[in-house]
This record gives sequence, structure tokens and C-alpha cells, in this order.
Amino acid sequence: MIALFSLALFFFASSLHVEAQDERIKVYANRGDNITLPCKLEGLSNLFGNRIKWTKLEDDSTETDVLMSMGFHKRSYGNFEDRAYLLEADSNDATLVITNLDLKDYGTYRCEIINGLNDKIAEVDLELQGVVFPYSPRLGRYNFNFQNAEAACLEQDAVVASFEQLYEEWRSGLDWCNAGWLNDGTVQYPITKPREPCGGARTSAGLRNYGSRDKSNSRYDVFCFTASLKGLFYYLIQPRKLDYEEAVNACERDGAEIAKVGHMYAAWKLHGYDRCDAGWLADGSVRYPISRPRKNCSPTEAAVRLVGFPDKKQKLYGVYCYKPQP
Ligand SMILES: *[C@@H]1O[C@H](CO)[C@@H](O)[C@H](O)[C@H]1NC(C)=O
Repeated sequence: MIALFSLALFFFASSLHVEAQDERIKVYANRGDNITLPCKLEGLSNLFGNRIKWTKLEDDSTETDVLMSMGFHKRSYGNFEDRAYLLEADSNDATLVITNLDLKDYGTYRCEIINGLNDKIAEVDLELQGVVFPYSPRLGRYNFNFQNAEAACLEQDAVVASFEQLYEEWRSGLDWCNAGWLNDGTVQYPITKPREPCGGARTSAGLRNYGSRDKSNSRYDVFCFTASLKGLFYYLIQPRKLDYEEAVNACERDGAEIAKVGHMYAAWKLHGYDRCDAGWLADGSVRYPISRPRKNCSPTEAAVRLVGFPDKKQKLYGVYCYKPQP
């Protein structure tokens, strides 16, 4: 009985400890930025000779090495090679610098300072300004296993969204009645206006969660996340309407590429892009972005409108292009 009690006390105490340590710092950034993730030993100290280790905690609960430092030995890993280094502003500073942020850098980072006496662990959340959008292919809805979903987002200049990112988008109004993969392997969808076919009319608004699904054999849509653009997204003015191949060529002649779905969402949501002309995109879909709702152009809500995946031979549409930063 006493043993049980002290065990409970131990758990209570250790969870308190975590609470106290959990002073999360959040860093907000844009794609392409150089950022610093703070981590310092308090008081007078000298980190030289201590081991400093930065890791990234992924949404599927795995850890990725970012950087390791001990004295003069410093090494950054994988995707962070040549992009991550220690700021070393003074002798107790273990602040991490990451240059040229990309979409995959979003997430939680852990700093560990290990000297055997007073080890320190701190966590920093790195958030990217971005937008979440649902995606399904020409084949129609529910065609992606998890791997297909990852590839599909990548092709749209995006990554599979996290739960936090979808939650944020739901809070800012996203309502979508088809279920899609998230990067933790769960399948969910966001509902702001509860109704019968979308989990029930008498349920509360929120994310509907199917839980973790078999990554190889279950098929759904996907929620992709993309961040602000460094390049230029635009509608290419042309004397007449184009088929798909002409659209691809027209952007190339203009020194650009045909835009991806992620480019259009980023331009629309993060840069206020508005154009009431249906245009081809790289995946063969035809869409148009409306940020100022008006008659004949998405009258009731700001949205990226999908016309569909028409026959690629139809000469009925314009084209949106994307010019990466020189
Ligand atoms: C980020 O850092 C790199 C390397 O130090 C530098 O070349 C680049 O100009 C910086 N970019 C910005 C946006 O400050």
C-alpha cells in the first residue's frame, strides 16, 4: 500500500516537473527565412567542452538529429547539413541558427546541454506562416494511400499537413467533408457547419477523426500544407484560350513554369491574390482564386474554386504561371 502510494507520488512529482519545465518558446517564420531557436544556460557558465545536441521531434514521434557539438567538433545532419549552426553569441549560448527555412522544417526542436552536472533540456516550436488545403487527384476522391498522399503534396509544392496545422485552418474557417491523411498517419476532416453527411447535424463543430489508418492499404484524400511564396505567381494574359500543353509552353516562353496547386493557395491565402479567370495548373486541374467574393466569382466565400480536371485537349482556359525567385 505504501509502495503504491509512493509510486503514485513519484508519478505526480515527475509530471509536475515536466509541467514546470514546459515553458515552450514559439518562433514564427516564413519560408526562406533565416531563424534562430534560442537555448541558453542560465547564470555564469561556459559551454565549451559540454555536449550540445539539437534534435527535431517529428509528428510520428520519431526524432531527427539536427546538430551535435562538442568543443571544436560540430556536425549538422541530413536536411540540415550546411543550413544549421550554433550562434555562440557568448560562452553560455547554444542558440541554433537555421538558414533558408523549408516546409519540412516546421515542428518542435529540442536543445540538450549535457555536462553531467546541470543538464538542460529546452523545447522550441517553429511555426511557419502557411495554408492548409485539401487535395484529391484527377481520379476522384479517396485514391491515396499514405505514400501517394506524401507524393501528391510534394507535387503541389507542399507537405502533408500536421494536426496542429489543420486545426489552425479549421479555426480560421476551413470546412471540408472528405477525409484526408495528416502527417501523423491519422485521417481526419474539419467541419465548421455540422450537417448530416459530415458526421451528423447534431454533433459539434470540430475535426472529425478516423484515427490512425493502415498506411499502405487505406485510401483517402490528403490535407497539404504550404507556406508563403518567394517567387511570383500570376495569371498569364493570352490572346485566346489554351489547352493544357499550350498552357505549359506559354509559361515556359514567359521564363516561368506552370503554377502548382500549392502556389495558388499560398498566393490566395497569404498574399491576397484574386482573379476571376479559370486557368490550368500543373496537375491538369483548372482553378481560380477569389479573395474578394462577388457575383459570378464565388459569391459567398473567399476560396480557391475548382472547375475540375477537364480533358487536356480542351482549349477553354487561361493559365497561371510561377516564376521562382531568380
Ligand atoms: C541567410 O543566411 C545566408 C547564409 O548565412 C545568407 O547568405 C542569406 O543572405 C541569408 N538570408 C536572409 C534572408 O537573410
